Amino acid sequence: MIHRRTVLRTGAALTGALGGAGLLGPAVAGSAQATELDPTTVPQFQRAMPVPGVLRPVCRSGMTSYYDMSIEEADAEILPGRLTRVRTFNGNFTGPVIHAVSGRRVVVRQTNRLSVPTSIHLHGGHVPQSSDGSPMDLIAPGGGSKTYTYPNKQPHANLWFHDHAHHQESETVYRGLTGLYLLTDDVERNLDLPSGKYDVPIALRDARFDDSGQLVYSMGDFKNRQVLLANGRAWPYFEVAARKYRFRLFNTSNLRFYLLQLSDGSAFQQIGSDGGLLERPFDTASVFLAPGERADIVVDFSRYAAGATLILGNAGGLLPGDPADQVGRVLQFRVTGPAEDTSSVPSTLRTLPALGSATVNRDFVLSMDETGATMDAFINGKAYDMNRIDTEIEYGATEIWTVRNANVYTPHNFHIHLVQFRVLERDGKPVTSGPESGLKDTVTLRPGETVRLQATFTGYEGTYVYHCHMLDHAVMGMMGNFRVSRTATTARSESRRHRSHPR
Ligand code: C2O
Ligand code: CU
Repeated sequence: MIHRRTVLRTGAALTGALGGAGLLGPAVAGSAQATELDPTTVPQFQRAMPVPGVLRPVCRSGMTSYYDMSIEEADAEILPGRLTRVRTFNGNFTGPVIHAVSGRRVVVRQTNRLSVPTSIHLHGGHVPQSSDGSPMDLIAPGGGSKTYTYPNKQPHANLWFHDHAHHQESETVYRGLTGLYLLTDDVERNLDLPSGKYDVPIALRDARFDDSGQLVYSMGDFKNRQVLLANGRAWPYFEVAARKYRFRLFNTSNLRFYLLQLSDGSAFQQIGSDGGLLERPFDTASVFLAPGERADIVVDFSRYAAGATLILGNAGGLLPGDPADQVGRVLQFRVTGPAEDTSSVPSTLRTLPALGSATVNRDFVLSMDETGATMDAFINGKAYDMNRIDTEIEYGATEIWTVRNANVYTPHNFHIHLVQFRVLERDGKPVTSGPESGLKDTVTLRPGETVRLQATFTGYEGTYVYHCHMLDHAVMGMMGNFRVSRTATTARSESRRHRSHPR
């Protein structure tokens, strides 16, 4: 149990983020200490956004590539002219990129040189339990190591990896332990999407600093994390040629929701989400991204003259009293000049796997204490217990999960390990097109919302977790275990029991 009255009270305020009551006043000014870095003093658009480095395998043999990573502390220049101590893979902040191909195995040996345990989860990956990086499968601090095997028996997708050690993950991820994993296949490679230097992954997150430039972590503190980073730098610029770019966006923030827009309000195309490409590109002027989610977009800069600048802004998650020029801005694009462009975005991108018909229904209710008395969070009324199996699933079963956010002020989101699911309905409305119509592994639930998801649990037997991907909430208890096995027989009765479960 976590008791921390003040933090929770601000926690309840996330409301403002997604359109709830104005419960709280402008909170930051009064609570800021003398040692706090004022985000409005951080210069913007002075340094270029780096493109995360691609990690090379230490060796390849047959259909397998082997990687070696050292989990270690390092200093990174997140803020211009200052060094910040961070937790990294191989000293990289933002984390490195692994390029993987469907059908070819990746084996990663991780050595933990931090002073806290870690567990490395491949988010969105379809992997055996032994390599899932579950909360209880820890790599010991001070040099412990573990080898993870990723079979990549799944279609292309923009995956990422991050710490998942029980009760440590929210702080360790906040301190930097994330990396990107771009899995491709022939379906994706046979398209003429922008590629090479015109295909740029961007990891988004927020942070709070003290005035010596060090990260400040306080659980549930979405309110004071007002410095926005793109690929590990605060408010960078990025030079683009006047042509199409593909940006693979990852929200690696613990708690922040983004609604990304170009400053001239112009449209772009969303071509993919968590589990790879959508069936069809979707024209939009904004993209919504909850913690853990990904969006793949194509922006055409050919309509801009050389010298033009525009800002990738954020209209989501703004709270009363937030400095708008800080939390409302992500990065600046600078258009350099014309460039050849033979890329294209076809009207059909892929065919999604058939849905199948579901035989089991279950209900999940997400809630956290919004009274301010505790920082406890629950699924179906229970806080996470790593020794309890919450959901028994028959191997191969296709199930429909109805997930409801019972909170009044606080948004949540729901991530399931092992599977990519489909969002069938949001608040009773069928999802048939748009950004949520593809394969998903994480879905947003605004206060009071209900979504219906469908997933097929096949490929591996074992115990995995589902949880809120606002990682501070997962630590507070909003997580559960499910076990997939050929001997599970309780599925249908579970279903009835959960249906009548009080919130
Ligand atoms: Cu991205 Cu269980 O996590
Ligand atoms: Cu949550």
